[in-house]
Amino acid sequence: MRQKPITTINEQLCTGCESCVKICPSDTLSIRDGIATVTGEESMHCAQCVAVCPVNAISLEGIGVPRPKTIEPKTRAALLSEIMMSRRSCRAYVDTPVERAVIEDLVTLGSWAPSGTNSQMWTFTIVPDRESMLALAEKTAGFYRRLNKMARSPVKRGFSRLFMKDVLGNYYREYHDSVELALDEWAKTGRERLFHGAVAGILVATRQGVSCPVEDALMASQNIVLAAQAMGLGTCLVGFVVEAMARDRSIGAMLGIPTEETVHAVIAVGHPDVKYVRPSGRKKVTPRYFQTMTSK
Ligand SMILES: Cc1cc2nc3c(=O)[nH]c(=O)nc-3n(C[C@H](O)[C@H](O)[C@H](O)COP(=O)(O)O)c2cc1C
Repeated sequence: MRQKPITTINEQLCTGCESCVKICPSDTLSIRDGIATVTGEESMHCAQCVAVCPVNAISLEGIGVPRPKTIEPKTRAALLSEIMMSRRSCRAYVDTPVERAVIEDLVTLGSWAPSGTNSQMWTFTIVPDRESMLALAEKTAGFYRRLNKMARSPVKRGFSRLFMKDVLGNYYREYHDSVELALDEWAKTGRERLFHGAVAGILVATRQGVSCPVEDALMASQNIVLAAQAMGLGTCLVGFVVEAMARDRSIGAMLGIPTEETVHAVIAVGHPDVKYVRPSGRKKVTPRYFQTMTSK
């Protein structure tokens, strides 16, 4: 969700190292006069900038580090919490390949997730190298180029308003400009903003006839991203590709995914080119209780 920036930079501490600029998914920050400065109009409030800042110069109003309170240090639960709290969506990778055996281990761990009625009707498609990831990125970019062209047409948006619950109009208002910018940037500078240089990918799909297809696939995906984090790998779910695949079946066909399968998650995988030095980035949650008058 794009919102107004709530980022504050401590100018005394900032060294202008650019780590925050490199990792920011919404171009909120840039370097001005040698220090990080809020120059963008939007922010995802993800606080990745806080997580990477080597001198702890950045804060986001109301965004902190809610920690579990009952977990004893050095227990298995503490280790798992640490993995959960340090996992971030990685958007900067080095070129080093990830071994196929490692990716297959991630898939195996994905398959340990719960599934509705224990159907286990998921499938995993591995994109094993950067070249193949680029082919997927390019095919996806082609879809968005066509979609953007369609969305720019007032006639097509009018049609969509009348017959398609304004899907195209909503896309035009929410995403057209940023997608166009990213496509232009990719064409001009080679900076690819779908997978951000990830050297591998895992697509999690389900077959037909499953009671809870989305839930099953995302449970498996969460296993994969946490396992990857524990192995020192970076991951990022890429919903833009899921959306493109739902609307353009030729993308799945290119990957050899049968038409009766539905892809619910595309997970970019690679060795991070960033170091997260602290956990950061969550709003405080206040749970709601339901308790009967007679319960203790
Ligand atoms: C279903 C889903 C789809 C997502 N799609 C994208 C995407 O297309 N591109 C991207 O850069 N990040 C994507 N993300 C990552 C979110 O932006 C990220 O999880 C969020 O900003 C919180 O940051 P964190 O994962 O670093 O904690 C997606 C996450 C989820 C759960």
